[in-house]
Amino acid sequence: MALEQSRHGGLAMQRPSDDFLSSDPQAQRPWRRTGLKYPSLVALVVLLALALLALSYLPSPPTGDHGRAPLPHVAPASASLPLAPRPRRDVDITPCGDKPSNRGIKRHRGERQRWRERGAPSHSPCVEQPCKRGGSPQEDRLCFDGTVPPWLSEDDIQKMKLLTHGQVVSKSRVPAHGQVLRVRLHADGDTQPASPGKDCGDGRCGLIKRPTDLYEVVAFHLDRVLGLNRSLPAVARRFSSPVLPYSYTNSVPRPLIWWAPDVQHLEDTNNDQNSCALGWLQYQEMLRSHSVVPVAGDTACASIQRGEWGRLALFDFLLQVHDRLDRYCCGFKPDASEPCMEEMLHEKCRNPSELLLVHILVRRSDPSRLVFIDNAGRPQQPEAKLNFRLLQGIDSFPEAAVATLRSGCLAHRLLKSLYVDRELWESQGGAAGLWPLLQVLERRGQILLQYIQEHNLTVARDMLR
Ligand SMILES: *[C@@H]1O[C@H](CO)[C@@H](O)[C@H](O)[C@H]1NC(C)=O
Ligand SMILES: *[C@@H]1O[C@H](CO)[C@@H](O)[C@H](O)[C@H]1NC(C)=O
Repeated sequence: MALEQSRHGGLAMQRPSDDFLSSDPQAQRPWRRTGLKYPSLVALVVLLALALLALSYLPSPPTGDHGRAPLPHVAPASASLPLAPRPRRDVDITPCGDKPSNRGIKRHRGERQRWRERGAPSHSPCVEQPCKRGGSPQEDRLCFDGTVPPWLSEDDIQKMKLLTHGQVVSKSRVPAHGQVLRVRLHADGDTQPASPGKDCGDGRCGLIKRPTDLYEVVAFHLDRVLGLNRSLPAVARRFSSPVLPYSYTNSVPRPLIWWAPDVQHLEDTNNDQNSCALGWLQYQEMLRSHSVVPVAGDTACASIQRGEWGRLALFDFLLQVHDRLDRYCCGFKPDASEPCMEEMLHEKCRNPSELLLVHILVRRSDPSRLVFIDNAGRPQQPEAKLNFRLLQGIDSFPEAAVATLRSGCLAHRLLKSLYVDRELWESQGGAAGLWPLLQVLERRGQILLQYIQEHNLTVARDMLR
């Protein structure tokens, strides 16, 4: 999908001047009443005030110290509404109850002003909390100052540290995946030697993806904020290692995803993107019958707990990931440029028995849970084209995740969570840059709540964390 690049801070210099320069005679009256004799002096004062106002509306430079332009994929702050639909009035959004913190530095006034216009919090624990600088430049790239967001586990933090600070000691291609590179990482504190030749069985590897997949880092934080805990830790990172090909070291941040060593793949080379084979009709039947339908020649799907499908559907709907449940784009009208159109997949929608689920994966260490990989999804999918087929057949969603959506705090919590990843944060223009994107997720969450209500669906307490 071609993602549109929009300009940072496109809101500059708008209306206030209209009010001041209005030719409406009403606007002139107070001047006369005050009986001022020096209209030119007053005009000067007004002009000055205008200039100050205009200044406060000017875009501030990117918050980062690198001054890079935000990446196209996760679109930066702008007035481009397809990315940032404002909440409609007919949906009740409970005000977020998260307590803001007043600690910390003051931000540029203009930035705050623009924030407020978009309905963003004027005080946010995430932006107001300065991260201590110092130490090596590398060490600044994760910020755990103040409180670590409670939805990130100790294990998440350890893995994020490895991904962010680990030295790249070797690389390997992943068969049939030209766009990604698997790298072995060595952290300073590691007791074991760097051992570049070692395979990734010890969990010290990551997968470097394309710069346009950065949204996958947001997806990781979304997973944790919602308490789903099914995706793998991911950070944004710029690379300079001589081990890597030149194109990887051009100072553009890329997502680095922790490599789970025990993801199960089918032996079948035509179907190695799955831990178990599952067709759409079987999947629907399985959901309907409340039991796992035996799948020809393979029982791996049978080990997957029922609640997992509700997690997956919720996650994929918010991110609009079609790859797993609807890679044929049967649930919306795809553009001609979509892979599902180019690969002639869409035509199969006419014959549901041919539709297969893809990327249905589990880990050997826990075959009862799904593991979500390749979560970049579609931040820009317009609201009118949301794929509701992703929700089809699901009659119960995870309670904790639904509670977070109901709280109206999703975007705030995501902001707080993403603040930890300085590379991502700065590359996207900070809070102001990220906010429209997070609003899209919040908005999709409200649409999902509405769907749950309209279809009388239930919410189930998670049996399995
Ligand atoms: C949901 O429940 C209400 C009231 O019980 C009923 O009128 C409505 O038809 C139900 N909707 C669906 C989609 O089942
Ligand atoms: C999250 O998942 C990991 C492995 O997938 C598991 O080890 C961990 O206990 C889970 N954490 C929570 C809080 O459920």
